[in-house]
Amino acid sequence: MPTGVNSNARLWRNPRFCYVGPAAAASLFAEKAYGSHIWDVDGNEYIDYRLGFGPVILGHSYPKVSKAVADQVLKRGTVYALSTELELEVADRLTKAIPCAEMVKFSNTGTEATAHAIRLARAYTKKNVILKFEGHYHGWQDYLNFSTHPPYTTPEREPFPQSAGIPNEIKKFIIVERWNDFHSIEQTVKERHDEIAAIITEPIMGNAGAITPKPGYLKFLRELCDRYGILLIFDEVKTGFRVAYGGAQELYDVKPHIATYAKAISNGFPMSAIVGEREIMDTFGVGTQKANHAGTYNANPVSLTAANETLKILARKDVYRHMKKYCGRLCSGILQAARSANMPVKILGVPGLFQMLYTEKEEINDYEDLRNEITDFYVKVQYELLKEGIMIDADNQECIYTSFSHNADDLDKTLSAFKKAIDIASKTKYPATPPFVELSD
Ligand SMILES: Cc1ncc(COP(=O)(O)O)c(C=O)c1O
Repeated sequence: MPTGVNSNARLWRNPRFCYVGPAAAASLFAEKAYGSHIWDVDGNEYIDYRLGFGPVILGHSYPKVSKAVADQVLKRGTVYALSTELELEVADRLTKAIPCAEMVKFSNTGTEATAHAIRLARAYTKKNVILKFEGHYHGWQDYLNFSTHPPYTTPEREPFPQSAGIPNEIKKFIIVERWNDFHSIEQTVKERHDEIAAIITEPIMGNAGAITPKPGYLKFLRELCDRYGILLIFDEVKTGFRVAYGGAQELYDVKPHIATYAKAISNGFPMSAIVGEREIMDTFGVGTQKANHAGTYNANPVSLTAANETLKILARKDVYRHMKKYCGRLCSGILQAARSANMPVKILGVPGLFQMLYTEKEEINDYEDLRNEITDFYVKVQYELLKEGIMIDADNQECIYTSFSHNADDLDKTLSAFKKAIDIASKTKYPATPPFVELSD
């Protein structure tokens, strides 16, 4: 296997993460996971704060979900390519849970959902350009795989392709702006609204250190879109069913026109959804005037069963109360440990999805603000935590995630491990300006 992994984000070998310690330079092989814990093939047990990059909201192999899925697989089949009552039931749950969801379409991955969402927006508005933000990730497809982790030397607003093989001609369909920058976005929209079909945004930056929107920012985006005939797409692949039952749109009380959901929707089974206003969603259909939506595994009964059981549990809302309490204690423990070690550590994000940064910068509002962050400190902490049986991701532009299965015992172990790790990491000398290493997604 080229690179040795099957998704580049799993590559802990990335030079960016290899500054401190040999363990940070290896990709782990997993054996199994249960509840809040994961085991590697060498028999090491870890409390898992990666949770498969976010999907596992209830805990690994959550019994109610697993039993329902096993029953489906053993007795009722895995794919029909026919409609089912189950898809109506899950669609109904989504329309009740998600503020903007008047209609629903299912697909399998976050990348498929965002690809469908921008196709829908282009078909509805009859315009082609998509405005996206630096530091945001919407999947690996060519139209959106720009400027997620551009080198900080990239000229402002220059779309930076994150992969070879993306035709250069596609650049003309992308505008890149800095997030949370009211003035610049408004100027660009004023100048180019005739071309812009949609603004796509993660409502919390789940792929660049859990940066949250400034007060009024998401509402500003919605109003700007309404004023200029542009559709606002919230990519809630990470935030959906994780930061609140209805996603970030519930948390911040702002409805986009279209939204994409995946990950936590089905507690770790591949499934995604495109949701939105009826009139817009009705642009999906058959024939050359309509947006084509297809996929052999769309709405397959295995993923739908997982989603149905997951959503039943999430609707009780105690999952969110639990995560708020757990993360509150975890984050204040981390900050306390950092203060004792005299390290200027910040926590960004919300319960269920947050990240720890070492930076002197007062305010972190966009990707550019991460420029002077000392990632080597994080990498050292991550490495020391691993030795203590605590697994956070090697990349701190990823998030730290918690689940319903993380319990008081996990919290105690995690807090004392963080204290030890931060203490050790604080004794290392870090270069004032971190060495720049170009990063590919
Ligand atoms: C916000 C966001 N959108 C889309 C995607 C792509 O999802 P997938 O990896 O399921 O294709 C991701 C993946 O992490 C994501 O974080």
